[in-house]
Amino acid sequence: MRIDILTLFPTFLENSFNYSILKRAIDKNKVSVNYHDIRDYSANKYKQVDDYAYGGGAGMVMMIEPIDKCIRALKKQRDYDDIIYLAPDGEKLNQKIANTFSLKKNIILLCGHYKGIDQRIRDHIITKEISIGDYVLTGGEIAALVFCDSIIRLIPGVLGDESAALSDSFQDNLIAPPLYTRPEAYNSWKVPSILTSGNTKKIEEWREQQSVELTKLKRPDLLDNSSS
Ligand code: ADE
Repeated sequence: MRIDILTLFPTFLENSFNYSILKRAIDKNKVSVNYHDIRDYSANKYKQVDDYAYGGGAGMVMMIEPIDKCIRALKKQRDYDDIIYLAPDGEKLNQKIANTFSLKKNIILLCGHYKGIDQRIRDHIITKEISIGDYVLTGGEIAALVFCDSIIRLIPGVLGDESAALSDSFQDNLIAPPLYTRPEAYNSWKVPSILTSGNTKKIEEWREQQSVELTKLKRPDLLDNSSS
């Protein structure tokens, strides 16, 4: 998979991809992440990328031209499956969306700033809008990181143990069961005895039952939406 990210803060993103599983995925060539500084595409001698909103109002708006130029240059080099704008009013990211995007070949992510971007970019260039939750961040970079992390870890061969991603919370609309490791007893807190019984069938049943009970308790909405 190839991910091209348009941003005003390329080094912030580059540093953030330098850790753990994301770094390993890049080193193993499972994904390539490429950063494009939107300012490099400004025709303005001051490298201006934002301007006042038509009609007035507080806050600046990101201009069309630098973003359009950058995306045009990328599209000349290859076809893209989607051009995604990270925005608080986009479709809310969930595991199903992450699964879908983990199968894509080439995607572009656009990180916005200030009050937002010129609407014509959204109308004519963007093919998908993603939000990471109902709150407003100062810019799209952290949302882009969250989105990338959620999809990159699902690319086959990225996680050491393939089954690890399948047993994640939300993968089947259920919360993952509780996990324990050594020691078997810590003060008076004991590991559930079923987990040390060696009976794999019973352990599997217990985990499933725990998943259902926890989901009912903590996230009953997941059970209501089990078809989504
Ligand atoms: N940009 C600002 N807030 C955001 C959010 N909640 N999700 C995605 N992009 C954003």
